[in-house]
Amino acid sequence: MHRIAVVPGSFDPITLGHLDVIDRAAGLFDELHVLVVHNPDKTALLPVAQRVSLIEKSIADAKLPDNIRVMSWSVGLLVDYCTDVGASVLVKGVRSQLDVAYETPMAIVNRNLAGVETIFLLPDPAHAHVSSSLVRQVASLGGDVSPYVPTAVSEYLQTPFTES
Ligand code: PNS
Repeated sequence: MHRIAVVPGSFDPITLGHLDVIDRAAGLFDELHVLVVHNPDKTALLPVAQRVSLIEKSIADAKLPDNIRVMSWSVGLLVDYCTDVGASVLVKGVRSQLDVAYETPMAIVNRNLAGVETIFLLPDPAHAHVSSSLVRQVASLGGDVSPYVPTAVSEYLQTPFTES
């Protein structure tokens, strides 16, 4: 059986914590889709196409396994995407009890909607404090985000701030 899983998220931008979860999840499934989902509850820093491009570059630079595809999704339910591509599992990284509390209802609803299971991966402790919102805040105030994000992202984020 060809097992397909999806790692969904805003990825605004991708962090080293995301990259670690993607790498480990890719080893657990035959095919892994990293899915950039537009989250209407959040004000975005980067356009979706740019987020996809930075994820693709980060995966290539880190030489992650070649069973990873990067896609985006903006219409309908996340589980509709899973059904369309034949994915039966969602993979989420959970850094804290807050993340578990946020993710648990979504996992239950996604299973009720379409039988899609969610598995949670704990972060590498080196990345347990890293979030995209923290990166956005540090970057917007001119700080160095290179300890928290792949090189492609830190180079991209530095460019607008150093040019102005
Ligand atoms: O990186 P984020 O912002 O925490 O990712 C959240 C995301 C995009 C995974 C979440 O908002 C989501 O699952 N959106 C899909 C909308 C959906 O299907 N909702 C109904 C079931 S929960």
